[in-house]
Amino acid sequence: AAAEKGGWPSFMAKEISEDPEAIENTIRGRFHEGRVTLPDLDALGEGYFREIDRIIIVACGTAYYSGQTAAYMLEKWSRIPVQVELAHEFRYRDPVVDERCLIVSLSQSGETMDTLMAVRFARERGAKTLSICNTQGATIPRESDAVVYTHAGPEVAVASTKAFVAQIAAIYLLALHAAQARQTLTDAEVAHILAEFETIPDKVREVLQHHDRIRELANWMADTRSVLYLGRNTGFPIALEGALKLKEIAYIHAEGFAAGELKHGPIALIEPGQPVFVLVPSPRYDDTLHPKIVSNIQEIRARGARVLAVAEVSDAAVLPIADEVFTVPPTDPAFEPLLHVVPLQIFALELSTAKGLDVDQPRNLAKSVTVE
Ligand code: G6P
Repeated sequence: AAAEKGGWPSFMAKEISEDPEAIENTIRGRFHEGRVTLPDLDALGEGYFREIDRIIIVACGTAYYSGQTAAYMLEKWSRIPVQVELAHEFRYRDPVVDERCLIVSLSQSGETMDTLMAVRFARERGAKTLSICNTQGATIPRESDAVVYTHAGPEVAVASTKAFVAQIAAIYLLALHAAQARQTLTDAEVAHILAEFETIPDKVREVLQHHDRIRELANWMADTRSVLYLGRNTGFPIALEGALKLKEIAYIHAEGFAAGELKHGPIALIEPGQPVFVLVPSPRYDDTLHPKIVSNIQEIRARGARVLAVAEVSDAAVLPIADEVFTVPPTDPAFEPLLHVVPLQIFALELSTAKGLDVDQPRNLAKSVTVE
């Protein structure tokens, strides 16, 4: 088993270190000369993406948060309305699903029963189904009209990490494919996005360099009782995913919030010493979001929060007001979530390790849940 972990103390540690390759292998060969080519989608039919009027993403757990994250760009680039549903809630509310609706299921294992049942339900209602899956020949891709595999490689640790970033990468390819078909982005825009996409694995490698410093922070925080996570836009689902990771493997109460929601309730939780991760969008692209996050940081800091920020390397506004800053290289805002999630994955891993817990096999959880 030690050899299988490639020198890492746990599968999860190894798998986080493989985030860059998971993205690289998922996008490899799927675009050429500034255009996405995804023959995997041909099975949906010629002209399919010009005919649909809605996409519903269904998934559970970490895959649900990758869906929530990627949905922002899927809708923005393709101009198709996108909704994201927990697979086990979906069919119980008599949702509007018909042949003009594409169901995209996200599942690392391809065997999650809740997700499979949502896919079957949608097919019965006449919708086409697309599976984004990390396991060749699994049940969900076999029962779907089309499949785009993520190539994250086998994921052993119960808590999903590299499959998460690979799922986002796969939906981005789908989004660009749909945008090409519907001409909602120009050729130049697609080419520009793809050029940046290719740089992301190396940028994730840069973020992985923070591992030692995050381990020190986690060691120091081993008896923390609660951690909060704040983000806006794609940072919101990343906050939710960061909190989920901590619950799953470190058994620490954690919650993610949309930063704009802070003043509507959660700020009441802030007391001196409360650790809060804040995902800060780049100041270069968005002159409306960034100052709002900075003022959120000031508000929680004024109430004694310990601010752990993930921010762009040149972000001069955040450095002086955060207790710790984990920097990420500059990128297009679309790709920020792929960089921002990495320190949160490492933090959960190291906090679990600092508490002496079994990182790969957390209590009460299974890698794949094959019952409803
Ligand atoms: C289980 C695992 C989670 C995972 C979820 C969905 O609950 O513990 O880590 O995110 O299933 O799994 P899937 O294989 O469908 O992505």
